[in-house]
This record gives sequence, C-alpha cells and structure tokens, in this order.
Amino acid sequence: MSLREFINKVEERGELLRIERNVNPKLEIARILNENSNRVVLFENVGNSNYRVVGNLCNKRENFAIALNVGTGDLLHRIISAIENPTKPEIIKNGNCQEVVEYDPNLFEIPIPTYTSRDMGPYITSGVFIANDPEYGFNMSFHRASPISKNELVARICHRDLYRYIKKSKNEIEVAICIGLDLSVLLAAAISTDIKTNELEIANSLSRVELVRCKTKDILVPADSEIVLEGNITMRKHKEGPFPDITKTYDIVREEFVIKIDCITHRRNPIFHALLPASKEHELLMGMPREPIIYNAVNEVCKCRDVLLTHGGCSWLHCVIKIDKRNEDDGKKAINAAFKAHPSMKHVVVVDNDIDIHNMEEVEWAIATRFQAGRDLIIKKEKGSSLDPSANEDRTTYKVGIDATIPFDMDGRKFKRIKLGE
Ligand SMILES: Cc1cc2nc3c(=O)[nH]c(=O)nc-3n(C[C@H](O)[C@H](O)[C@H](O)COP(=O)(O)O)c2cc1C
Repeated sequence: MSLREFINKVEERGELLRIERNVNPKLEIARILNENSNRVVLFENVGNSNYRVVGNLCNKRENFAIALNVGTGDLLHRIISAIENPTKPEIIKNGNCQEVVEYDPNLFEIPIPTYTSRDMGPYITSGVFIANDPEYGFNMSFHRASPISKNELVARICHRDLYRYIKKSKNEIEVAICIGLDLSVLLAAAISTDIKTNELEIANSLSRVELVRCKTKDILVPADSEIVLEGNITMRKHKEGPFPDITKTYDIVREEFVIKIDCITHRRNPIFHALLPASKEHELLMGMPREPIIYNAVNEVCKCRDVLLTHGGCSWLHCVIKIDKRNEDDGKKAINAAFKAHPSMKHVVVVDNDIDIHNMEEVEWAIATRFQAGRDLIIKKEKGSSLDPSANEDRTTYKVGIDATIPFDMDGRKFKRIKLGE
C-alpha cells in the first residue's frame, strides 16, 4: 500500500488532520505534530515550497496493522514471517517516483523541518538509504541527513551494514535516499539482519513493493517513493549535530560522511515525510523490528508468548516479556536470552501468561506481588546502548532483569488475581 493509499485509508477512518493554511517548516510543523500526536497530519501548504508534508504516519501499532492488513495482535508474527521468508520484488520500467526528474538538484526547495531550536539545522529524519555492494547486494537503512549546501548532505551513519559497505569499498559509493514511503518499507528498513539480507525483500513479504532503477545510479528503489535523492557517499567528513535522539535527549556532535546529490526525482505534487524525532512514530520504528528478534531468542530457551519494548523505555531500553512458565528457571533464562538478542536493552521484566504486557499497571502489579529482589533479580555489567546518556563512555552499563513470574515452590493460589463480581 503506497503512502498515498495509506493516507486515503486513514482519512476514510476519520484519523487524518488536513492543515490547509501556510505553515513554517522551522519549528511550527514540529509543534503541530507534537500537539496532534494521535492523528496523521497532512500539511497542504508549507513555507514557499511546492511540496506537501505528512507526519505522525505510524504513531500507533494500529497504523502498521492497517498498512499490512492484519490485526494488531498479529503484527509480531507477521514481521517474524517476513524476516524468515523474504521475497523478490518486481522490477518495473516506469515508477511514479520519477514523474519529475531534476538533474540540477536543490535540496533547499524541499521543506525539510527544523524540530528544535538547538538542532544543527533542518534535517531529513525519514530518509531510507539504499546502497548496493557487489558482494552483499542491496541494503536499506535509516540515516538522518542534514543539508549543508544545495546539493550536499551530512548523514549520521552508525557502524552497521552501510558503514561496512563504505569501509569495504574504500571509495565513494552510490546511494539513493528515499522519502515518503509506505509503512512496510519503513518497517523493513529498520530491521537489522544478516548483512547479506536485502531488506527490500522483507518489505515485499510484508506488503507487495515494486522497484524501479534510479535515473543516475545502479540502484533499485521503491517505485512509489514520493522523493528520491540520487547521489554518492563521499569520503569527506563534516560536523554533524546536535540533533535529538529517541531518548528525548541530544546526541553528541560528530564528524560524519558528506553525501553529494546529483539528481532528485519525485512524484507530482510530492509529499515529504516529517518523522518527528523522539515521537511514538520514531520509537515504534526503532522498537517494533527488535521485538521479533527478542521473541525468537527467548523462544529458544522457554515458551515465549509476547514481547514489548515499552514506550516509557523509549521502545529501546526497556522490555517486558510474557512467557508460559514451565520450569522454575524459565524467567531467568528468558532474561539472559533477551539481553543477548538486544544488547542495547537495560531493563527486562518477565511475566506470566495472565499479565497484559501492554498495560504497565498490570506489569507493575506482577512485580509488586510476585517478585523478590533477593531471589528473582539479575544484575550484570555489560556494553549497552550508545543512546543511553547514563552509560559510561565505552557504553558499559548496569543491566537489570526482573523475573516477576510466580515461583513454583509457593502456593500458586496466593498469586491469582481476584475477579470482582464473579
Ligand atoms: C526513525 C529511525 C531513524 C534512524 N536514524 C539512524 C541514523 O541517523 N543513523 C544510523 O546509523 N541509524 C539510524 N537508525 C537505525 C538504523 O536505520 C537501523 O538500525 C537499521 O536497521 C540498520 O540497518 P542495517 O542492519 O542494515 O545496518 C534509525 C532507525 C530509525 C527507525
């Protein structure tokens, strides 16, 4: 389902806010998105630009469920299945994303928002980078990118797959930055798997995606992208930051790669996706693709029922795991497996099958009535997340696992929740 089809669907459900008056991409868009966090917002008229802007696209799990045509409760297993069964997208000759082709690109014509007054400047938060390596094939990942001239960006590229592509080539590499994508592509781009896995194939398994070849690069991009920036990642570096992180704190300033843009293609009347930093949308895109990885790892050591990276834990640092406890040490085994699967995580709570892990009051109730620190606590010192401001410089941090499952050596009846009126 393309971004436009998704916006129409949301509008039919009465969950779209259209703003027709002119808005300023500097801070005003961020303010309006933040104030209307429960609705998708479409800005029809932005600064003096011809582009429209959409935000809050996937601020709730239900929106992913709409885009993937599944129930919200089935999302986890749908993502697991797509990761395990990637399928090749069809390659087509003419894509909507190439309705307009600009060989003399000017990034300043795109109404890229500034989100906080401390930011280095405007920056693209929803840019999905697609690169091709002769050995590993296509890779798709998110990287924030800020314009430093009319045809150059500086982008934050962590030491993951794309970084390895750059280091391996020892030279400039071609890249396409796609903006305004359907939710299955966004979700797939946020998935971290084996370097040889093509995330475009995961996207295609989530929901059918067609690809088209770029105009100036040997790269395939989703044909329904709203905007595609075609360019090269140069070997030059430039100051990057400060910008906000998912933790609602500021990331540090670093030297990062400069990207030179040679061509911009876009749909007619294009829509730019403003992904509000540290919003639920940002959190869900970061956290949801990690949940299947944690689920699979826990399922290797005991029967896992559900996994949630919690909103309060920035959908990255805190996790609640629901298990079907069959052995006394299942809770502790689940904690250890979860930390191994997602090393950025700092606090894990394991609960029994009767707890709704989407209800934090129930999770706290399980801790209050079933957990004993002297018996059920795991503390370890390990490398954690680079995003955690409280971690040491080398990323070491204390991690805590709480086994809040009912102990088998006590009378189980003591732990049953009352049923009022029954
Ligand atoms: C909204 C969003 C923004 C992100 N921003 C960045 C970023 O600026 N730099 C970065 O290196 N990774 C960023 N990431 C994380 C990577 O895109 C993500 O971990 C991806 O799965 C890495 O892909 P890889 O395993 O193919 O390297 C972001 C993820 C999301 C969901």
